[in-house]
Amino acid sequence: MLVLSENIPSLVKYMGSKTEIINYVVRGLNEVHKENQAVCDLFAGSSTLAGALRSNNIKFISNDIQIYSSIFTKTYLSQFDWNVYPTAEDIVKDAEQIVESWINEFNYYWEKSNYEVEFNLSKFNEVEKFQQDLNEDEQFYNTIKNSSKEEILRYHLFAKEYSGTYWSFRQCVWIDAFRCIADKYSNIEPLYNLILSCTMYAMAYNSQSTGHYAQYRKAEKDSSMEDILIYRKKSMSEFFIRKYNEIKANMIDNNCKVETYSLSYEDCISQIDSGTLVYADPPYCSVHYSRFYHILETFVKYDYPKIRYGGRYRTDRHQSPFCILTKVRSAFKDMFINLKDNDCELVLSYSNSSTCMITLETILLDAYCIFNNIELDEELYLSNIKSYVEKEEQSQIYRDIEIDEINININSLLNIDNINLNYEVTLKLFEHYHSTMGRTEERKKNVLETLIIVKKINK
Ligand SMILES: C[S@@+](CC[C@H](N)C(=O)[O-])C[C@H]1O[C@@H](n2cnc3c(N)ncnc32)[C@H](O)[C@@H]1O
Repeated sequence: MLVLSENIPSLVKYMGSKTEIINYVVRGLNEVHKENQAVCDLFAGSSTLAGALRSNNIKFISNDIQIYSSIFTKTYLSQFDWNVYPTAEDIVKDAEQIVESWINEFNYYWEKSNYEVEFNLSKFNEVEKFQQDLNEDEQFYNTIKNSSKEEILRYHLFAKEYSGTYWSFRQCVWIDAFRCIADKYSNIEPLYNLILSCTMYAMAYNSQSTGHYAQYRKAEKDSSMEDILIYRKKSMSEFFIRKYNEIKANMIDNNCKVETYSLSYEDCISQIDSGTLVYADPPYCSVHYSRFYHILETFVKYDYPKIRYGGRYRTDRHQSPFCILTKVRSAFKDMFINLKDNDCELVLSYSNSSTCMITLETILLDAYCIFNNIELDEELYLSNIKSYVEKEEQSQIYRDIEIDEINININSLLNIDNINLNYEVTLKLFEHYHSTMGRTEERKKNVLETLIIVKKINK
């Protein structure tokens, strides 16, 4: 039985994060998990599952095509040697020294980026524009190249490329400084990952954008200026210290043996042990994660990539087949084929909304056929599954209004001849009560999450 650690320090604001419903995900995994079975999070993202399962003595494999995800996983699953690490305040002091060097050598730019003054809209936008233009300011770049400080020569990516965008010039200098300090500890891997994670957390909560990095906001009115100002005045170091200390206080029960990969899902499946229980939470809308979180990738790689377009994206972004209408179905099929060939079991999260890239009944039919080596007439069975799911959902709620989970066994519908199958496919709908915000405070039932469970049949 997998045990859930409830307290998972958040490291990033992540679209599609399973933090709020992680207990349902672990309940789904527990329907399949056998003692000592390895667990793989195939699309780990913010690595919530690693945080949730950290106290279990199991092999945990974490994968995501985006490299920053592996840093979050390792932060949740490291064994920290707190006695020998510097305190958060010590790290901030070291970073502050680098910031001091910037203030000395770039005093003109530092002073021009001061937000602790009275603003009107036009003055505010002038200060913003001044910083935004630093990415093409030759004089600024020449000063960097002529700096006598290694910390500036090697660590100026954010100050040059992102000043006045998601963060101010001053905040960018802090980001570069923390990145430099992380590299100084690259021989102590848990500490290196921890410094990167705490900085990414501070970046998320200091950024003036809405939680992702697809585009930064422009001040068009006084109200948006006032709002952006709130973030421009935030302190990177305060957020860094807060997260570092929270992790120190809570990450004391990490027991998993961890392996991390930054591979596409099919390559990862070929790396994992046969028989692994895989949790798959692929993207379900057309938005590419590599666009929303390009900056985290750049922060971790720190490779001075080519940067383009309004959102200042790196140009080598991954295009996920799960976000492309013409590719999504074969992406799912490939995943099922590879998992079956590797004798794995699966718990799959997918959303049940009209904006999804593919319908639940298509996924259910393909999973059932591929895992069991069966061919079925698609035209007929897709609509059968749809009406069966709707009918089952209604009748299970009717039978027991208090239930918080509905289980719909797809084998019961499709295996009418009762042949010997290898896998059972179940659709699990978790329901929960939530109160509407209306005056009546009427309680309303709402489908929260969908899991598809593909479990081996014991023979
Ligand atoms: C819905 S999110 C996962 C959220 C995660 N469960 C959490 O709680 O944060 C989907 C993830 O799939 C990753 N992804 C997209 N295409 C991929 C691919 N081809 N192979 C591996 N990962 C991929 C994205 O980078 C993204 O982090």
